[in-house]
Amino acid sequence: MENKYSNKPFVMVIFGATGDLAHHKLIPALFSLFKQGKLPKKFIIVGFARREMSQFEYRESFEQFYGKEHWDEFSSHLYYLRGDFSNIEYYHELLDILNGFDKETKIFTPKFLYLATPPQNYNDILDNIEKSNLPIQGGEENKKKVRVVVEKPFGKDLKTAGDLEKRLSHIFEEEQIFRVDHYLAKETVQNMITFRFANGIFEPVWNKNYIDHVQITFSEKQGIGTRGKFFDGVGILRDVGQNHIMQLIAAVAMDQPKSFEKEAIRDERFKVIDSLRPIKPAEVSKFTVRGQYEGYLNEADVDKKSNTGTFNALKLFVDTDRFKGVPFYVRAGKHMPSSTVYISIVFIQTCHILFKEFGCPEIGNVLTIKIQPDEGISMRVIAKKPGDKVTLGNVNMKFTYEEEFGEKLRNAYEKILLDIFSGDQLLFNRTDELHSSWEFITKILKGWEIQSASGKWKMPKYKKETWGPKESFDLIENDGRKWLDY
Ligand code: BG6
Repeated sequence: MENKYSNKPFVMVIFGATGDLAHHKLIPALFSLFKQGKLPKKFIIVGFARREMSQFEYRESFEQFYGKEHWDEFSSHLYYLRGDFSNIEYYHELLDILNGFDKETKIFTPKFLYLATPPQNYNDILDNIEKSNLPIQGGEENKKKVRVVVEKPFGKDLKTAGDLEKRLSHIFEEEQIFRVDHYLAKETVQNMITFRFANGIFEPVWNKNYIDHVQITFSEKQGIGTRGKFFDGVGILRDVGQNHIMQLIAAVAMDQPKSFEKEAIRDERFKVIDSLRPIKPAEVSKFTVRGQYEGYLNEADVDKKSNTGTFNALKLFVDTDRFKGVPFYVRAGKHMPSSTVYISIVFIQTCHILFKEFGCPEIGNVLTIKIQPDEGISMRVIAKKPGDKVTLGNVNMKFTYEEEFGEKLRNAYEKILLDIFSGDQLLFNRTDELHSSWEFITKILKGWEIQSASGKWKMPKYKKETWGPKESFDLIENDGRKWLDY
């Protein structure tokens, strides 16, 4: 979609401007768009945060990453407002800045309010946004030019997510609310729709008659680093399971949308998430595994007795006609041997029908969608090895974006920002998707709570740089299957 604000001024307010997200994702993405000439001549970014810092220091805090080139010009658009999120006074100050900019541009400029703070601050921020009348400053006709962007975690369970939703929809209309899941904006995730539905050869086999199971690995080499305050008590299931992994499952399992329209695609995503077979609290030991890396309890800002999981594995089912009975094995963890986000579709093995005596490979056809790194797709097929005797082996057919298209994939946050500017909500969560995913996740969380309180259960530990605790291998191997080696 065309970025219709590319020539039109805009204002972006980043609440939590000194945090991880602003520093590592938002400002770099904005700067990159600026260098590509994708931002208008007139725009301002107002960073709002609690940290004592001057405007000059705020601008300078990024310069060390980007050097001088273009930065001076870009950073002249960057403002810093030090303040307390719970104090209305600062919102009046913010309004003064915004109104000043409107005067200069002589229009009511679109205003994007980006909540990049820990979720504990959302209520204060939303209360004060409402009290200060910020959303209705431009009158009814300009209301939709004000957009609010909410980052995950969107609540911490079904109830809190519902409360946040109510709060948001009380102040804003649906078209103004952008619920971010940056995995939706990844090029490789978007390509899955094209790959599945533009190529006639996949659709006929993309179902329970041909697929044995699906594996998703979401591993990260690094630990929680300096994010203890955010991560402890949240855990990996809420951090990446409730959101990114749900969207990967939706992309694999969805039916063909009626059209390429926003709501048609969101409808199909929703249907998948809503069809996840609930894992009841009493079933968590059968279908889920938790783990914690050794040394986690010594990380900064982590409770010494914390039961927070840094790893989890799940076995789940999508109860749609297409996938009924096909297990999805999903594992996600920190301090794994590699940073890899791969989805593998493992097809039913048919080799033995004719070739049993020649030794069929253990696993036959596997289609792997590499979300990152080495973005691309590979297909494992069985072939006859050259020679007089019939011996079989696996070969890989591969495609990588870099080799084929020769360009770097756009960073997901750049895409998110462009879509916010243009008002395109396709790659943002709709409220029913969130509701269903929280419904599913909250039951597991409840089961874990009971499990932990039973006194009989101990958090499985795993060594750093390994693929999680033994229980994760049992989860899949008890079904006669194996995690794939990547
Ligand atoms: C974030 C999580 O949403 O996604 C992080 O909070 C995780 O814990 C990150 O590291 C992974 O995103 P990406 O794009 O780096 O794979």
